[in-house]
Amino acid sequence: MKDKKRTLVTCALPYANGPVHIGHLAGVYVPADIYVRYLRMRGEDVLYVCGSDEHGVPITIKAREQGCTPQDIVDRYHKLIRDSFSGLGINFDIYGRTSSEVHREGAAEFFRKLYDEGKFVTRESEQYYDPEAKTFLADRYIVGTCPKCGNEGAYGDQCEKCGSTLSPEELINPRSKLSGAAPIKKKTTHWYLPLQDYEQWLREWILDGHKEWRTNVYGQVKSWLDGGLQPRAVTRDLEWGVPVPVEGAEGKVLYVWFDAPIGYISNTRELLPDSWEKWWKSPDTRLVHFIGKDNIVFHCIVFPSMLKAYGDGYILPDNVPANEFLNLEGDKISTSKGWAVWAHEFLKDFPGKEDVMRYALTANAPQTADNDFSWKDFQARNNSELVAIFGNFVNRAVVLTHKYFGGKVPACGELLDVDKELLAEIPALKESMEKNLENFRFREALRDAMGIARAGNKYISDTEPWKVAKTDLDRTGTILNLSLQVCADLAVAFEPFTPFAAERLRKMLGVSLFAGSDHRRGERVTVNTYKDGEGCALHTGSVPAPGALVLDWELLGRPQILPAGHVIGEPELLFAKIEDDQIQVQLDRLDAIRAERAAREKAEAARKVAPQKEECTFEDFEKMDIRTATVLEAERVPKTDKLLKLTIDTGMDRRVIVSGIAEYYSPEDMVGKQICILANLKPRVIRGIESHGMILMAKQGDGTMRFITPQEVLANGSQVG
Ligand code: 2FM
Ligand code: ZN
Repeated sequence: MKDKKRTLVTCALPYANGPVHIGHLAGVYVPADIYVRYLRMRGEDVLYVCGSDEHGVPITIKAREQGCTPQDIVDRYHKLIRDSFSGLGINFDIYGRTSSEVHREGAAEFFRKLYDEGKFVTRESEQYYDPEAKTFLADRYIVGTCPKCGNEGAYGDQCEKCGSTLSPEELINPRSKLSGAAPIKKKTTHWYLPLQDYEQWLREWILDGHKEWRTNVYGQVKSWLDGGLQPRAVTRDLEWGVPVPVEGAEGKVLYVWFDAPIGYISNTRELLPDSWEKWWKSPDTRLVHFIGKDNIVFHCIVFPSMLKAYGDGYILPDNVPANEFLNLEGDKISTSKGWAVWAHEFLKDFPGKEDVMRYALTANAPQTADNDFSWKDFQARNNSELVAIFGNFVNRAVVLTHKYFGGKVPACGELLDVDKELLAEIPALKESMEKNLENFRFREALRDAMGIARAGNKYISDTEPWKVAKTDLDRTGTILNLSLQVCADLAVAFEPFTPFAAERLRKMLGVSLFAGSDHRRGERVTVNTYKDGEGCALHTGSVPAPGALVLDWELLGRPQILPAGHVIGEPELLFAKIEDDQIQVQLDRLDAIRAERAAREKAEAARKVAPQKEECTFEDFEKMDIRTATVLEAERVPKTDKLLKLTIDTGMDRRVIVSGIAEYYSPEDMVGKQICILANLKPRVIRGIESHGMILMAKQGDGTMRFITPQEVLANGSQVG
């Protein structure tokens, strides 16, 4: 931490083709925000950069589906995502966009330098082409039937139904999403970054030099390197993107994964046109990329190789704390299936509960393995932890101080063992928190912070100042003095995790917080507030009034942060209970999605047609004596779920057939129905009953069956054939 002068924190640039959901928040943005707030409180110089990733094929597909331009799509989602982040207290120094001029120029220049210096190789390959639309087709633009599960809407790169990774060659009956035409193969030339040339260097830099990286990140890098790196295409035949800035590249753009990480640099340039290089080209800068696990290869292998190829002093990440994935109520989050909790909807449905979401996502952070979010857990985290422990403790301390000491911090008298134990606990928790935060173990750091609240809550419950007050006001004063000191500790410790509540708590305690400096104004500020500018976040916190009590990280755990006599503010509710009905609304919404999905899948399965059986001769068929018959009586075969005993009139005789149709029909359903039977099937004894024939049934793809009945009632015994 102390080895470098400044820290540049980047968060994966979300694609501007849909809203962000809790999986994104838990994996990338909440942990990054915790980290940044912590560093800032420690007085570290931090730049916090993010923005929208506005290129890529899914954006063009969405635009086509909605009959608008890709720019319309990214404009809409850029704003929605930016506002969702700020609503959750995630305040970047800049939230830029890759469709900006600064970025287009920067990304083109980056490509051009590598091109001029011969860092690329060109390759001719055959790509799919739509002969009607006269355009090359990205894999996503090719649809067909999945060879694994039969889904007719599988994409050329993936089947979203069964999750298989596919190539367009594997699709059955492939067709272009643009025109419906069958795609043909056509030759095209692209530029490739020869990643294999960087393999040895990557091994030394990461495998030898960064053994401290998270095992999931290190392991993924190792397996890529052990598998052998290949040249990677950095251009595509598409219209939407940064045009390839060389002659003869008409109709080609930079591959989205080439231009997006350059977006981190572009956004820094946009914010700090005169001083951006100090953040990207100085060995005194620590670079930390917060990403999800699907982005590891791009941030640990591809982008570093691009930077290495470019040279010019660009720094490499010191760490890439990638998270695993978050599931929702036991199922994988899926944008296309609507199985998600969207940040903007959460903000609408749960106003004032931003901290609770941050808290629940951190407590369940998928740091080392995939983890699950459930609404019941969300409610319990709020009601049983934030309200019952943290909020309850603060409320008792503040209310009692007003009741017995007129809202002034009472003096601290002689310390008893119980007091000393409390005071000893906080620095230990603080130390553990520091280690955890600095090593990106945010879940554990939150546990430490909550440990402070638990210690305070236990202390006030054990010492019972409301009872002591009846006999010993001095002792009551000491208890409340210490309790208020713990409240001040909490106002610092929870700033990274629940910044809104920490701010409310500071107001209650009549204190401010040193929370970093503004990079353009160089001022010491007390709060970070997102300001809606031209894609620009401003720190507009006020400079504290002279004499104001300003907390910072170093003060956490120190004795007597709040001096005796300091006037505190009015009590305010730190956290409010979440009622069952609010949670039920969310569960009902998810149940409806599940039910709809199940019904759709069932209908799809029913439509599946079994392959035709082996050929038979007319003579084979002629052997079968199929007749119409009417059911006279029907009853369940005792002790079975599936069998009905039917007595039928075949026109030739009255006979018994045992049939496995009880799953689909009750005895009452069958009586009086005309059916078709295979009359000359050799009799069989089923459950002790001799069965003379078989009822003809139609079986659907999902296995459900229906009996076959003539269109109009015929004489029993009529021959079918
Ligand atoms: O996976 C994603 O959502 C990408 N848009 C992340 C890009 S990160 C960076 F490289 F820009
Ligand atoms: Zn499939």
